[in-house]
Amino acid sequence: MSPTDEAALQSAFDAAIGADERIEPRDWMPDGYRATLIRQIAQHAHSEIIGMQPEANWITRAPSLRRKAILMAKVQDEAGHGLYLYSAAETLGVSRDELLDKLHSGRQKYSSIFNYPTLTWADVGAIGWLVDGAAITNQVPLCRCSYGPYARAMVRVCKEESFHQRQGYELLLALSRGTPAQHAMAQDAVDRWWWPSLMMFGPPDAESAHSAQSMAWKIKRHGNDELRQRFVDICVPQAEALGLTLPDPDLRWNEERGSHDFGEIDWSEFQQVLKGNGPCNEQRISQRRRAHEEGAWVREAAAAYARKRAAAPSNEDGRR
Ligand SMILES: [Fe+2]
Ligand SMILES: [Fe+2]
Repeated sequence: MSPTDEAALQSAFDAAIGADERIEPRDWMPDGYRATLIRQIAQHAHSEIIGMQPEANWITRAPSLRRKAILMAKVQDEAGHGLYLYSAAETLGVSRDELLDKLHSGRQKYSSIFNYPTLTWADVGAIGWLVDGAAITNQVPLCRCSYGPYARAMVRVCKEESFHQRQGYELLLALSRGTPAQHAMAQDAVDRWWWPSLMMFGPPDAESAHSAQSMAWKIKRHGNDELRQRFVDICVPQAEALGLTLPDPDLRWNEERGSHDFGEIDWSEFQQVLKGNGPCNEQRISQRRRAHEEGAWVREAAAAYARKRAAAPSNEDGRR
């Protein structure tokens, strides 16, 4: 491609971004835009499937058939979110195998929040309320992301996430209004999940490596700090309605700003978990690798079936 062609393509791309148009898979895009999207969508997809583990931990011990059915539906939704997102990433020219390989070898990350353990049943509630709640706050603006396939995947994901958030809230409400021991269990879960869920928005904008460029490309629509503030302001009245306390002595309404002030986040903990030293990093990855290996026969069978179908298109089940 000549330099003038490249310049023309770049300016067409810039004009599309400027006019809030969607970039689609066949459109020309700068290499950096493609690489940023692959990294972000892959990390998002990995988070969805790794995130199944802490909650699946409680499926066999759910306290009633109703709770078990709800939790199973939620964990299955997360698998589905992974599938939409791996498909969206594939439109950028990477294969799912390549992405999974990078996850398994630690070259791509997933959200650090899933490296914390689920110690009691109340954790299922705290995850739904806080972790899925933080995910929604982050993901609603992604429905307007400049890359079409990612934005469209997010519309459906967000609808399902709001069901997840509600089930977590309702579960915590039942515990909070239950026996003193159940109330204490709910409070303990909120105490442990509050700060990690604030870390889900990423480091402060000033220290965030990719923020400014992602905003210019309209992949991101809001800064990390703005979204974190929005989440805190949503959670405070919800915690009150739940009858639970958020574990932050510095949390208070700031009349002047029209928002809540909140305490300092322990970013050294975040960095430690990110480096692989969280309580469950090793367990999550080894379980994922094992699941992948044990699922090899399913992938092989599905591929063999697809080949058979392709060879005999007229016959519905592929037999001659
Ligand atoms: Fe999800
Ligand atoms: Fe979810």
